Parts: sequence; C-alpha cells; structure tokens
Amino acid sequence: MTDNIAGLSSSFVTEVARKAFASSSNYEKVRQGYPEDAVRLFLQNLRLLDDSTACKKKVLELGSGTGKFTRVMLEIVNKQNVTVIASDPLEEMCKEFKHHQPDTEIIQCAAERIDLLDASIDVVIASQCFHWFANSAALEEIHRVLVNDGFFGMIWAIPDFSVPWLARLWEFLAPLYKEKSIVLPFDEKWADVFSSTRRRLFSDLEGNLDFRLNFPKKGFDEAYQLFASVSFIASANESTKRSFQQLFYKVMREEFEDKGVNFEQVPFKIYLYWCNKINQQN
Ligand SMILES: C[S@@+](CC[C@H](N)C(=O)[O-])C[C@H]1O[C@@H](n2cnc3c(N)ncnc32)[C@H](O)[C@@H]1O
Repeated sequence: MTDNIAGLSSSFVTEVARKAFASSSNYEKVRQGYPEDAVRLFLQNLRLLDDSTACKKKVLELGSGTGKFTRVMLEIVNKQNVTVIASDPLEEMCKEFKHHQPDTEIIQCAAERIDLLDASIDVVIASQCFHWFANSAALEEIHRVLVNDGFFGMIWAIPDFSVPWLARLWEFLAPLYKEKSIVLPFDEKWADVFSSTRRRLFSDLEGNLDFRLNFPKKGFDEAYQLFASVSFIASANESTKRSFQQLFYKVMREEFEDKGVNFEQVPFKIYLYWCNKINQQN
C-alpha cells in the first residue's frame, strides 16, 4: 500500500458518507447481503465465470466496505482463476474487512485515486457504492487501471420503495437524497456521468433488474436499525433522526399491527449494470 494514497483516501469521501460509515461493525450487523443468483448472473456478464484455466482474471472491488459483496462473489468464482483485490478509502472499513476475510487482500484507496498500475485489472466492481463516486475523476481512474476491453460492473440492493409501506418511508427520505444530489440507480439521471466525461470511456451500459431479495428482519426494532444506518439518516441531525424514527414506527404499526399482518422481511430490488472499457487510440 502506498502511504500517501492511503492517507489521502478519506479526503475523497463525502462528509455524509464518512459519518454514515463511521461504525463499520454496525454496518456489518444491520445491512443486507446479496442474493447468489443475482451475483452469479452479474459475474457471468463480467466474464468471470468462464471455465478456461488459461485465462486468470484480476478483479478490483471498490468501496468494498466490510466485504458483504466480496464474500458472495468469492463463494461463486473459481479461486484458481480469479484473484480479488478489495479496496475502501476508510481505514475503519478496511480493518473490519480484514477481520472477516483475512485471506483477501485489501488496499486503502478511493475510487478517485486507485493505488494500482495502469492496465493491471480485468474487472472493476462497485457494490452499493458507485453513487458515492459517480464523478469523472473516478471514471478516469477506473478506465486507467482496466486492461483493454476490461469490464466495469455496478450492483445495488435497494429497498423496494414501490411497496406501499416502504413508499411511505421514501416520502421522508427522498428530499434528503435530493438535497445532497446523490443519484441512485432508480433515478432517471443516475448514469449521466458516463456521458459527461471529457472523452467517452465506457461502452453503453447493459443491465438487469429482474432480481429481488427478501431480507429477513425479526420485528420492527431490527428493521429500524437497518433504516437508521442508511447514510442520510445516520448522518442527519438529532431532530431529523427523531422525526424519522417516529414516522418509521407509525408506518409499521399502521401497515402491519393494525392490519393484523405479520412483519418478517424487508423487500429489496437488485440493480445490476455493466459496461466495457473503450480503448483509447494514442
Ligand atoms: C454502502 S457501503 C458499501 C459497502 C460494500 N460494498 C457492500 O456492498 O456492502 C459504501 C462504501 O463506499 C465507500 N466509499 C465512499 N466514498 C468512496 C470513494 N470516493 N471511493 C471508494 N469508496 C468510497 C465507503 O467507505 C463505504 O465502505
């Protein structure tokens, strides 16, 4: 690890993200994982499940956090053929990652300044984090470290806010996201950054939105911990946190208790996107 890159890495992380991810152990405890079938299809499209032993692949995972996606990926890929290097700009996340995956390399760096050589990586993956670095600097860096024709893949698992009880929570959350200009994959404009770079770096995005995840939660309190960890609540002031908490329990009482419906899970939608590096002519 190059010290100055590691030292600089947290300066690329927004204040909202820094506050939200300050407790890596809480993140690990309350956040969802990823469904195996969706990750398998994602990795297939990133050409990581090809059988040929002749072609060894190197994967860089950006913003790997505590390794929730990394673990699912490592279960699926053939470890003989695929080497995974994880990365995160926050030291706390890198430590928590190492605790869970001591055998996987992790480097401390941000997407905007990746501590790897040019054309050294076959596939770059961003799981649940591209919205934190959807900017030209990061796309240029991803392009730089990829080999010719290398792949860039993005995956998100996001509560399905079209479900009525979640839609009521989204009414509260949406303005908080908009205020900070964060784009999530269900926003119309989320992919605009790919067309606003100085030169065209990646092929058109392909994607898949067919997968769902039902994340089991035992009771309202456990579910509340999940939503309280969402960046715009975790980083909000005390009064916003209190208002959200009151709304959350009101919605849960009205939508489940009062209707005699059992609450067992939070439904998530999975968003998968991938594209290829466009090779530059010198
Ligand atoms: C919601 S977590 C996702 C963690 C993990 N990938 C997962 O799927 O559970 C977002 C991660 O993005 C990282 N992050 C924030 N800003 C970043 C940046 N500029 N470059 C790379 N990662 C960043 C955070 O440190 C955090 O670990």
